[in-house]
Amino acid sequence: MEKIQKIIANYGYCSRRKAEKLIKEKKVKVNGKIIDIGYLASNKDKIEINGNLLIKEKKFEYYLLNKPRFTISSTNDEHNRKTVVDIINTKTRIYPVGRLDYDTTGLILLTNDGQLANLLMHPSSNIDKTYVAKVSGIVTGYDIKKLKNGVYIDNIKTSKAKVKLRKVDKKKETSIVELTIHEGRNHQVKKMFESIGYKVDKLTRIKYAFFTTDGLKVGEYRKLNPKEVSVLYNLVKNKKTN
Ligand code: URA
Repeated sequence: MEKIQKIIANYGYCSRRKAEKLIKEKKVKVNGKIIDIGYLASNKDKIEINGNLLIKEKKFEYYLLNKPRFTISSTNDEHNRKTVVDIINTKTRIYPVGRLDYDTTGLILLTNDGQLANLLMHPSSNIDKTYVAKVSGIVTGYDIKKLKNGVYIDNIKTSKAKVKLRKVDKKKETSIVELTIHEGRNHQVKKMFESIGYKVDKLTRIKYAFFTTDGLKVGEYRKLNPKEVSVLYNLVKNKKTN
């Protein structure tokens, strides 16, 4: 038996937070009865949301996409912009694991496996993500130290990060910086630079966990193989998700 909001998220219907909202709004029924947050159920129970019966996906699909710029990391967009899901040729209802900004390129996973997606997106999963940022201005060694030790964004300090100054173009007054972080706060990299007075002009994610962009040009994608899926599960399975 598990909490109903966790079961809904594991079905891949939505995030756990969204499930809690639906439960509060009395839109979730288990075996015909409206239930409250925390209700314990199992996969055998009949779960309905807004009158629709939840059906477990029979087969999971996993993709690694090198996201192009100007695509939305979402399943649909209110302004009809292209989404990362539009790029993948499948009839299955997949969704992105986390987000990259509209103008950020790089690696993003997509799947219909709600359990793995939620484990990977959970703050405790500590998945390393490596970004390369092109910023306006000459980044100094002192700035790199600050980024490494953590900077304040929205009054909360970021965790320690691995940061390398890759290149400085003194003529153009730009710098290329590589950062590895395991948090996934909104616009985190851009805000980290903003907090020390730099603007990110270009951002790309070159690594996600053990995945790299090797063999994947921007806009290309591939399926994960079963071994990669099980290694991902092993990375996150012992993390607490309650
Ligand atoms: N940090 C950002 O600022 N943007 C992204 O897309 C990813 C990380």
